[in-house]
Amino acid sequence: MSRPRIFIDREEIARKVAVLAARIRADYEGKNPVLIGALKGSFVFMSDLVRALDMPLAVDFISVSSYGNGRESCGEVQLIQDLKGPVQGRDVLVVEDIIDTGLTLACILENLKKKGAASVKVCALLDKPSRRRVPVHIDYIGFTVPDRFIVGYGLDFNEGYRYLPDVCLLEDDC
Ligand code: IMP
Ligand code: MG
Repeated sequence: MSRPRIFIDREEIARKVAVLAARIRADYEGKNPVLIGALKGSFVFMSDLVRALDMPLAVDFISVSSYGNGRESCGEVQLIQDLKGPVQGRDVLVVEDIIDTGLTLACILENLKKKGAASVKVCALLDKPSRRRVPVHIDYIGFTVPDRFIVGYGLDFNEGYRYLPDVCLLEDDC
């Protein structure tokens, strides 16, 4: 497969991360939220976001999979790895790389509701609304993207391409 083509470059991503962080910092002033990264795709965005936030917060991770090794969601969501810490009474911000069908996020929100979080908001770098299968509310959206398969900046295709510093499109998907 040929090299993926840059869709959103690293400078544009960095500018957006700064804008999102400023909004989140203002909204959570005086609070000490728990940021929950949805593995694996969000790990790059999450690490840039927490440093841009530069405020008191905790981090935890959850791994939920609705994807096999291909590009299509199988529609069955599986909890692969639960949170390590409690979120009872905490202000929670879920950090996602991309919201596609919404199945993964819906599953994570259900999990958090059961655990008694005081508040739950969602921050996603990318939103692909044309593919939605369940309605989900996203509080902070970086970029709205068309129905194209995206890799890089943490996002993968069969575990490849996560290392690319820019948000890219697979060449044969252009
Ligand atoms: P959803 O459950 O369909 O919303 O899928 C969400 C998850 O699927 C994301 O967190 C990604 O890990 C993965 N995903 C969805 N669309 C893409 C894409 O275009 N490229 C890479 N991964 C994707
Ligand atoms: Mg993900």
